[in-house]
Amino acid sequence: MPQHDGQQKFPGSLNSAMIDGATGHAAQEYANHFGQPGYNDISRVYIGQSYEGYSDENQEVWRTLYDRQMGYLESMASSVYLTGARSIKLVREYIPYIEGPKSINNYLAKLTGWQSRAVPGYLPAKAFFACLARREFPTTIVIRPKESLDYLPEPDIFHDVFGHVPLHADPVFGDFLQTYGKAAATTDDPQHVERLARLFWFTVEFGLIREGGKVKLYGSGLISSPGESRHSLESKEVDRRPFDLETVCGTSFEIDHYQPILYVLESFDQLRDAMNQYAMRILEGQPARA
Ligand SMILES: [Fe+2]
Repeated sequence: MPQHDGQQKFPGSLNSAMIDGATGHAAQEYANHFGQPGYNDISRVYIGQSYEGYSDENQEVWRTLYDRQMGYLESMASSVYLTGARSIKLVREYIPYIEGPKSINNYLAKLTGWQSRAVPGYLPAKAFFACLARREFPTTIVIRPKESLDYLPEPDIFHDVFGHVPLHADPVFGDFLQTYGKAAATTDDPQHVERLARLFWFTVEFGLIREGGKVKLYGSGLISSPGESRHSLESKEVDRRPFDLETVCGTSFEIDHYQPILYVLESFDQLRDAMNQYAMRILEGQPARA
């Protein structure tokens, strides 16, 4: 996936010791080889969160990001996102715990069985999909430096947990994401691979949904970005199209500027049902285009 490919780490990360130790390197090395002979145990790409590694400044960055965005989201985000955020007890006071009694995983386990798993950095696509197929979400644990509050080229824990994880508390979205992972982990057809990357981009990362007659945010790239969330809903430059799987899969995207085209779901059932049909085609070995 565009946001999950490659091997780079944060260049200037304030807490890179949390991922750059021997354990982090071994996990990343395993992820880089995942799928090759002898590298089939996806659990070996996971690491601990090393929560004590967060500095006071890291915690302050979390509070600042939370404060800047949650007020806006209360009226502009999907009710499914907001319900999920409350269900996993996402709070402004501290960076979320991934493991342990106060953790988001503790709540998710009871709701949908999804879990977040700390990873040392980007996962190659096949490893990323293998995690999703198991209802496990690879989660970056570092947080952006305070000098880079507005823009960073890679995910951090604010993008991954604040942006993505609340939707994992919803059974319909949770089923969609697992089915997506199973299908993407299965196919090597380059056309399917490209189409699935577009589907991920225009839904999980940058999706909009209509609720109560209003267009709301749910994609993590919008949820976690004060600039792009407002642009996506308010700009006259944005072409907001009704979601249609074939149209979405046929639409290319660029990653380095605000998205000029976005797709609007009518419901998460629509997304799950479309994914189920597409997954069936992939699992039956049908080509990308009939
Ligand atoms: Fe993402």
